[in-house]
Amino acid sequence: MTILVTGGAGFIGANFILDWLRGCNEPVINLDVLSYAGNPENLASLQGDSRYTFVQGDICDRALVDSLLATHQPRAMVHFAAESHVDRSIHGPGEFMRTNITGTFTLLEAVRGYWSGLAGEAKAAFRFHHVSTDEVYGSLKADDPPFAETNRYEPNSPYSASKAASDHLVRAWHHTYGLPVTISNCSNNYGSYHFPEKLIPLIIANALAGKNLPIYGDGMQVRDWLYVTDHCSAIRAILERGRVGEVYNVGGWNEKPNIEIVKTLCALLDELAPSSAGSYARLITYVADRPGHDRRYAIDARKIERELGWRPAETFETGIRKTVEWYLANQAWVANVQSGAYREWMAKNYAQR
Ligand code: NAD
Ligand code: TYD
Repeated sequence: MTILVTGGAGFIGANFILDWLRGCNEPVINLDVLSYAGNPENLASLQGDSRYTFVQGDICDRALVDSLLATHQPRAMVHFAAESHVDRSIHGPGEFMRTNITGTFTLLEAVRGYWSGLAGEAKAAFRFHHVSTDEVYGSLKADDPPFAETNRYEPNSPYSASKAASDHLVRAWHHTYGLPVTISNCSNNYGSYHFPEKLIPLIIANALAGKNLPIYGDGMQVRDWLYVTDHCSAIRAILERGRVGEVYNVGGWNEKPNIEIVKTLCALLDELAPSSAGSYARLITYVADRPGHDRRYAIDARKIERELGWRPAETFETGIRKTVEWYLANQAWVANVQSGAYREWMAKNYAQR
């Protein structure tokens, strides 16, 4: 038995593969194009491990995906590969449409061809799991109930619109062709290997470098944070026990305004890596808001809790402390990903704010 993962060199995919191979010996094939967000260093600990195969390639490359399916005969595909940063989708939406929509379409067609050729138990057991986001549901008002699986899709950013489109394709390939799919819509993740363009790792990296900590708008936008390995365990539960054709919302019941996240990070850094210049909170800087900024996301995770018995293992307090400790212990990793391309992105996104 083997599973094929796409986008496994990114933040969540790398955590998923590391977790998977810590927990079992089933081989993993990782198809990743190594965009700016993909980093083979995330999986360096698997070098020489016969259970892990890395293939550098594009999910839009149908011939490559066909040949990987034919060669490795996986029992499941877990699809993480995507362009994932909202701010980048505002500056340049084209790549989001290509990877997130055309890429998902290409995988679905390749998997449909492969799955149709399977027989008996192998055909019945096969799964295509699509990893998606709560952002497809749009923005909640302060007193709205959290997103349930039945909420309307109301994506507001080019990123969330492209993910919504991919979710619809996956759903349609199930309803039309009977493809055995599952979908998860997860809230904001945080943890190790998180690329420092996203809020939590960006704040840690900037604070340690003595740079400003940029807060978009009034900092009162709310996100629902989940420690990344809890997302990984949810995906494993869905692969094992999820019902075919179903959608599962995944979240940690941890709604927090951005400013509170940033103040928590400053307090942890003050404790674990105090600066002689004073509290890191002195670096907090309010900057121009993100266009179309969604005000609040929150996940109702009762379906996956009830049907699959999944629960997060970390609280926000334990997860955020582990995260800060990981970044303090891995400053070389951060320095390595802060390449010329990273610096160009920081200038582009923050210079005008
Ligand atoms: P990421 O940006 O860190 O990693 C994406 C990975 O996909 C990278 O390794 C990149 O090289 C690869 N990739 C990009 N385009 C590709 C292509 N055309 N072909 C092959 N590989 C390609 O993203 P992430 O934060 O790890 O997110 C993974 C998935 O989880 C995405 O589908 C995202 O929408 C979803 N998700 C993310 C979050 C979050 O908080 N980060 C929350 C919910 C859902
Ligand atoms: P982000 O990590 O980009 O995730 P998403 O937009 O997918 O939720 O941003 C999390 C929140 O933090 C979001 O409300 C935007 C805000 N934010 C800032 O205030 N400053 C920043 O520099 C960044 C990157 C994000």
